[in-house]
Amino acid sequence: MQQALLYRAGLAGPLEAELLALLAPFALTETDTAQGWYLTLQDSALVLRNADLPKQGDILVDFASGAATHRRKFGGGKAEGIAKAVGLNKKPGLSVIDATAGLGRDAFVLASLGAMVTLVERNPLVAALLADGLRRGARDPQTADWLPQRMQLVHLPALEALHSLPAPDVVFLDPMFPPREKSALVKKEMRAFHDVVGADDDADALLAPALALAKHRVVVKRPGYAEFLAGKKPTMSIEGKNNRFDVYVNAGF
Ligand SMILES: C[S@@+](CC[C@H](N)C(=O)[O-])C[C@H]1O[C@@H](n2cnc3c(N)ncnc32)[C@H](O)[C@@H]1O
Repeated sequence: MQQALLYRAGLAGPLEAELLALLAPFALTETDTAQGWYLTLQDSALVLRNADLPKQGDILVDFASGAATHRRKFGGGKAEGIAKAVGLNKKPGLSVIDATAGLGRDAFVLASLGAMVTLVERNPLVAALLADGLRRGARDPQTADWLPQRMQLVHLPALEALHSLPAPDVVFLDPMFPPREKSALVKKEMRAFHDVVGADDDADALLAPALALAKHRVVVKRPGYAEFLAGKKPTMSIEGKNNRFDVYVNAGF
């Protein structure tokens, strides 16, 4: 079944073996990709590529990339909306379960500010990309001294994770939300997620178990125009550059 996912990769022997080894823990099946997307190796990184969209460019998790490093160094640090919403401006070193980890951007920002982050991702293809990003991040001189201690991947549905993991200080949720304008689809990652991951229609069901588990608060990232998750009014909302962070405070923080 993995072969079918990789049929266009065209890699020679040792590289194909390396690719299969990276994918082995994730039990990918043919239904995990759609619309021409497939996984392959590029410069020793696992990438998601679409042969029908040559201009699209590869999608990968690269925590040492220019963009990730720029955001880590100049992104506003503890003054960023996400840091304030989670509470890192007051308490660095908080434990966070990011129950909808995606490509791990938010988790990386939180970890780079000192949080201990458990990244939960249910989609096997996205989890494989994340695992590979963490593997390379653990070797890169820019991130090797802190990333492996602060970022751990758990490949599970969030509902299972929220019933089995130890209680963190904060649960962070960022489920997919339908884009308001079609033009948003041109953003390559959004398009890939739309094709490969689909909609997170069950997201409302995550709020109650998240609130039951988090010691201090649950933070839900939403587009500015979106309604509250599960229709529940938050304790407060913090505006980010492109998003809103709805904060549900559980106990004295
Ligand atoms: C919008 S993306 C998250 C983006 C992420 N915050 C980032 O910075 O890259 C949503 C992700 O959550 C995952 N997801 C949605 N519902 C989930 C669930 N119930 N359990 C685990 N993962 C889930 C999806 O597979 C998708 O990868």
